[in-house]
Amino acid sequence: MKKRYLVTAALPYANGPLHIGHLAGAYLPADIYVRYLRLMGREVVFVCGSDEHGAAITVKARKEGTTPQAVVDQYHTVLKDTFEKIGIDFDIYHRTSAPIHHETSQDFFRKLLQKGAFLEETTEQYFDEVAGQFLADRYIVGTCPVCANPEAYGDQCEKCGSALSPTDLIDPKSMLSGSVPVKRPTKHWFLRLDQHEAWLREWINTGVADGKQLHNPADWKNHVLGQCNSWLDQGLQPRAMTRDLDWGVDVPQEIPGAEGKKLYVWLDAPIGYISATRQWALDNGKDWETYWKNDDTALVHFIGKDNIVFHCLIFPAILKAHGDYILPVNVPANQFLNLEGRKLSTSKNWAVWVHEYCAEFKGQEDALRYNMVKKMPEQADSEFTWKGFQETNNNELVNNLANFVNRVLVLSHKYYAGIVPAINPDLDFKSGWETDKTGSYDQELSLLYGKLREMGTEIERFNFREALRIVMEISGAGNALLQFNEPWKTVKDTPETVKVVLNLALQYVAVLSVAIRPFLPFSANRLRKMLNLGLLRDKGDLLAILNELVEGNPIVLPNHALGQSEHLFSRIPDEVIEAQIAKLGGGAPATASAAEKTTYEPMKDTIQYDDFAKMDIRTGKILTAEKMEKSKKLLKLSVDLGFETRTILSGIAEHFSPEEVVGQQVLVLANLAPRPMMGVESQGMILMAENEEGKLSFVSPATGWPNGFGVK
Ligand code: MF3
Ligand code: ZN
Repeated sequence: MKKRYLVTAALPYANGPLHIGHLAGAYLPADIYVRYLRLMGREVVFVCGSDEHGAAITVKARKEGTTPQAVVDQYHTVLKDTFEKIGIDFDIYHRTSAPIHHETSQDFFRKLLQKGAFLEETTEQYFDEVAGQFLADRYIVGTCPVCANPEAYGDQCEKCGSALSPTDLIDPKSMLSGSVPVKRPTKHWFLRLDQHEAWLREWINTGVADGKQLHNPADWKNHVLGQCNSWLDQGLQPRAMTRDLDWGVDVPQEIPGAEGKKLYVWLDAPIGYISATRQWALDNGKDWETYWKNDDTALVHFIGKDNIVFHCLIFPAILKAHGDYILPVNVPANQFLNLEGRKLSTSKNWAVWVHEYCAEFKGQEDALRYNMVKKMPEQADSEFTWKGFQETNNNELVNNLANFVNRVLVLSHKYYAGIVPAINPDLDFKSGWETDKTGSYDQELSLLYGKLREMGTEIERFNFREALRIVMEISGAGNALLQFNEPWKTVKDTPETVKVVLNLALQYVAVLSVAIRPFLPFSANRLRKMLNLGLLRDKGDLLAILNELVEGNPIVLPNHALGQSEHLFSRIPDEVIEAQIAKLGGGAPATASAAEKTTYEPMKDTIQYDDFAKMDIRTGKILTAEKMEKSKKLLKLSVDLGFETRTILSGIAEHFSPEEVVGQQVLVLANLAPRPMMGVESQGMILMAENEEGKLSFVSPATGWPNGFGVK
């Protein structure tokens, strides 16, 4: 085990508020992890802050007709406030406009330069002669060479997802003036990523760097390793670490040729983690360097999947080139969260904004956190729906957790005037963990111990969904304990046994008050109050109860006076959910289908154009159709592809009669490997659209379209 932890969460761009995708992607898992470590008494610092440089900021300022400074000032405050409200408990929330950050990143740059980490090269870059400045990649639009989208940006085509460089664009234009940019020579500093490729490959795949085993790659997520390796396989090229911009951290001006140049935002931003740590250390009388330079520190970066290569390849290369820094032991990136069947989109207002949620659901912050963990895109993309949110709140938080807590407290007040009863621990009762199982007090305490341990193990493996499931299992077993023993019926005849059952149930509740803390921090303290146990200090609270349980000691002692039961969670009614659904998309037509509560399939993972291009889709026409014997589903079709006729078996027999489909124009996936089905070889696949009820529709080109031609 490492001596201390430095946990970072991706610095969000200060160009907009926080939505649930950000929360589920990076901040919530980081917060849960950190809160758990604190509860276990580990030394941990949790840093974050606003990323205030880069085109994300200047583009926003242009759009709003204001200055970059005004944009970052506004959103830095919004972000900081939102994190606080939803209970993301950073040790410091810093910002990259802070002087200490400029200084830290400039020092870093000097050191890299001095170490020979850069290649200085003069290249031709686009220059806007009307605006009189070099153009950031984002400021150049043109036609995508891959998909012909006329509005591709100089760094990326948002239509096909291709990563581009400005010189790839066909007919480039400046977004600043609309003029055609010209190429001008300019000098920049390029990080020799090519020289880092070999060690990065080894480090990513074996956990070994400089001959030291730094981590076990089996602990890293597959999709993270996969993305890194696909980058490595394409070969790493030198990458410019400076830009010709007027917003950002200045390249140290004493360096010849630095005038007018700024650090690349992906150089300065991750160094933001370091400057945040420095500021935190200054504020708290600590030494920041132990966190960044000692091998016994575990550095963990929480990010979304769009940040993987920056944190797993580029920043490590930067740290290594500097020479004094440790490398991350893990980068547990999450995938994306979708919303009601569609990708979250700021521009289409297809999002749930966390600050709005906090304003509209005051006191129910944990309900969102709970659902976000349940739906956390840990290994694959996942989906948030308002209906699902309502269900997890009403069925799990209210009916399971709050109900259990409430029953235990109400019964304790009723039977024992709110004083924890002393018990005879040798009396048997029915365990809540299994039907028809006799339980003993000691055994149940050790079961609780085991569950808490399991929860911890899962959190340390970044399996937050599983960890939360275990916590809810404790509450479920508590409910079953009451249900199986029916104290309300047996309290007259076997009062001593009922004391054991309720005393034990109170131990469950006390355990839960700590176990839910990483996930549901606000509710944890509400629960502490109900138990009259004093608020959590976090530092070592979980460790303390583990130590009691492992010794067979209860957590709440006899004669302890309990507090009053309050509502831990409250039901969310249909109207509230409907209002939220109606709000999506800002009332644009796009909401119409959402308002009818359509549930869409979650989006599949992003693919590259190349993946799509592998499919050979052709236009065709169905010539003949007949039912397949012994098959309800299949029609046997012959399809004219112009250059040949194919036999294709299609699972559409329950939707269309053979007569109906003859003459139908279709699209055929023509290079699908042939497949024998029921004794016939099917030589392709007919493309169909399917609605939410499972109805099918042909997808066809315009009437009279020739057969055999490609679809792009
Ligand atoms: N601002 C970036 C984003 O939102 C993340 C920066 S992470 C850091 O995608 F490491 F660079 F800070
Ligand atoms: Zn494109």
